Amino acid sequence: MKRVSEKFYLSNKLPPYVFNVVNEMKAEARRRGEDIIDLGMGNPDLATPEPIVSKMIEATLNPRNHRYSASRGIPKLREALARRYSRHWGVSLDPDREVVATIGAKEGLAHLMMTVLGPDELAIVPEPAYPIHCQSVTIAGGRVLRVVAKNADDLLDKLSVAIKRERPRVLLISFPNNPTGECVNIGFFEEVVALAHRYGVLVIHDFAYADIVFDGYRAPSILEVEGAKEVAVEIFSMSKSYNMAGWRVGFCAGNSETIAALTRVKSYMDYGIFQPIQIAAIIALNECDEFVRETAREYEKRRDVLVDALAQAGWIVDKPRAGMFVWAAIPERFQSLGSLEFAKLLLSEAGVAISPGIGFGERGDGFVRFALVENEQRIRQAMRAVKRLLKG
Ligand SMILES: Cc1ncc(COP(=O)(O)O)c(C=O)c1O
Repeated sequence: MKRVSEKFYLSNKLPPYVFNVVNEMKAEARRRGEDIIDLGMGNPDLATPEPIVSKMIEATLNPRNHRYSASRGIPKLREALARRYSRHWGVSLDPDREVVATIGAKEGLAHLMMTVLGPDELAIVPEPAYPIHCQSVTIAGGRVLRVVAKNADDLLDKLSVAIKRERPRVLLISFPNNPTGECVNIGFFEEVVALAHRYGVLVIHDFAYADIVFDGYRAPSILEVEGAKEVAVEIFSMSKSYNMAGWRVGFCAGNSETIAALTRVKSYMDYGIFQPIQIAAIIALNECDEFVRETAREYEKRRDVLVDALAQAGWIVDKPRAGMFVWAAIPERFQSLGSLEFAKLLLSEAGVAISPGIGFGERGDGFVRFALVENEQRIRQAMRAVKRLLKG
């Protein structure tokens, strides 16, 4: 039989996942019986709150919930998301026209980009970035312009120059940021929305870490800005706020034309999230605010343990005000290794898995990312091992 040509496969255009290198080493070490402390992937270790799990079980026992569900999300789920936005961010959303449920943020982002970006159209993405931010553009057949900035103010300056010159179709941003932990205030979004209005750009804001905030910081929604709904959509995820990463529930909310377009595309792609999960997610959004605050407090404690212990080892890094990660410049002595080799060294010599910054783009190569996904005691244990390595 003639072999099918793979020349045009989309997979050829997607780089291999850098994180797999460390993941495979981790799996091998574990097979050898070594105790590896895993601060690599941002995969929440805390349990989904009990009322959500109970509701899921109850709804699963009802055969009516076993059928195909609504691709765009059942009405009560979209209403619950709208209420959540009104309560937390003072944003009013029409659940029918301005909200669509997605199978997690990742699926939502990928299909959204396919929906809004035409062949060879340009999307601007600040770097370092969560990998799907750039790769969704490749999947959609578009072009990415990566913008590198020192901080949020610098980013605004660079974005305004790039948008004026390049006239992109889309700008994809995300704050609180993964991996850097960078946060912005509402003034930042006001400037972005003004730029989007001036140059006709669609802004996609990935708000996956909306609720994982520390030290009294409140993460603003871009939709709080007046006029934002004319130019922007926001992606909200249940994965981190409610420890529901495996459940796959997210949303896209905001600009009604964009929501209608994504809803149409998704109606051909999927039949919706398993209905018991949607029903349980309604309980989460309506009744679990205190669980969300507790989760944030837990990450805050872990952040303190990790950053303080690093400081004792002579590795000084800033405490992020939000997110699940500590983004750390590689210590001087190890800089020349680059982030992948340094991550491998930490794994083999200290038994600690972390993410190499290069996985978030070239600009990330001088850094590594610690995910706060082990308990305080395990983080302390990891930091003792890191200290030994640094002092050795
Ligand atoms: C910035 C960002 N967006 C989206 C996601 C994925 O969210 P979901 O689980 O809803 O697909 C992550 C997960 O790590 C993330 O860091």
